[in-house]
Amino acid sequence: MADLLFSPTPRQSFGWLTASISNMKSACLSLLLVSVCWALPFRQSGFMDFMMEEEPGSGFPTPPVHKTPVQRPPPVLPEGPDGPDGSFCPFRCQCHLRVVQCSDLGLKNIPEKIPLDITLLDLQNNKISEIRENDFKGLKGLQTLILVNNKITIIHAKAFSSLINLERLYLSKNLLKDVPANIPKSLQELRIHENQINKIKKSSFAGMANVIVMELGSNPLSSSGVDNGAFADLKRVSYIRIADTSITSIPKGLPSSLFELHLDGNKITKVTADSLKGLKNLSKLGLSHNEISVMENGSLANVPHLRELHLDNNMLTSIPSGLPEHKYIQVIYLHTNKIAAVGTEDFCPPGYNTKKAMYSGISLFSNPVPYWEVQPITFRCVFDRSAIQLGNYRKK
Ligand SMILES: *[C@@H]1O[C@H](CO)[C@@H](O)[C@H](O)[C@H]1NC(C)=O
Ligand SMILES: *[C@@H]1O[C@H](CO)[C@@H](O)[C@H](O)[C@H]1NC(C)=O
Repeated sequence: MADLLFSPTPRQSFGWLTASISNMKSACLSLLLVSVCWALPFRQSGFMDFMMEEEPGSGFPTPPVHKTPVQRPPPVLPEGPDGPDGSFCPFRCQCHLRVVQCSDLGLKNIPEKIPLDITLLDLQNNKISEIRENDFKGLKGLQTLILVNNKITIIHAKAFSSLINLERLYLSKNLLKDVPANIPKSLQELRIHENQINKIKKSSFAGMANVIVMELGSNPLSSSGVDNGAFADLKRVSYIRIADTSITSIPKGLPSSLFELHLDGNKITKVTADSLKGLKNLSKLGLSHNEISVMENGSLANVPHLRELHLDNNMLTSIPSGLPEHKYIQVIYLHTNKIAAVGTEDFCPPGYNTKKAMYSGISLFSNPVPYWEVQPITFRCVFDRSAIQLGNYRKK
């Protein structure tokens, strides 16, 4: 879990790859997503494209973001038996030890005769529309299955039943209307954003106690698109993102293990204290670009370890209560709201007591409060003035 979320950006560490590959007899790379060993000098091109990126400026690591890889030259290796152990490699795919790459090939079906001992199967950027019952049969060692950017509408209910060791399932950019049934319980990471899913059912994630990362954004989830308690079984989940859908409230019954919750770009109208109850480990909460006009008193008290709160581009008329008492909050974005007044007790404890944690980012620009009416004493507990972005509103 720590590796998955907190490792440095791998892009930065791949410079050595091409340089040293010629004298590399056998090199092992421990990547974020998979450990791969290269026995022979081989130029890996599309493999890292779906790796992690850092969100600029936030200072917080974020899990991987899919990138559509650049068009890559045709496979250089001959088809047919070519694995170091003489195992078969599906036509036009590239096989290297236990990694099978079949991306960008215009495939309409999952290739046949996939070596049974593989750990990673990359089928992104093809034209696959259906996953049939036996497509992945016998792939007991498969850990990562990448099906991003296909045309998948149907996944057979038993299609994943052999995949007893699957950890990462990437299904983003397809045409799925439902979360697939019977996802292996071993799964740690599910990415299924940019599909046509309009409902997350309570049964969708039943028993999935190993999930750490869940990415469900950009699906047509309606106002009541997430069943109460849909995430209740995800006892280890650390990161949930449901951005750019049409949900109107924070999903109920979120697991207490949650560390980051990203709900930006929805139609949420209110933050209730109840919806954040028990989220004792929550560190980052993204609610930008919603329709929030009220953040209930007590909301912040329910997330005592929150460090970063994004509430910009909403309809708040006042500063949320609870900031002066909050011990850990460092970043609070409130720009582009309808805040008409900022009081001297809104951010800092009374008097000159300092807060335990220092603010490193407060944004208030694009609110109806004229910045010259905000008294400097309001920010008496903020030691670095550059942390405050007051900005101008209708500056003449
Ligand atoms: C909260 O985080 C701590 C430290 O990372 C961890 O030990 C604890 O199990 C977490 N709590 C929950 C409910 O997951
Ligand atoms: C919330 O707290 C503020 C200040 O503590 C108080 O003025 C306001 O009435 C409270 N609102 C509710 C709904 O309790």
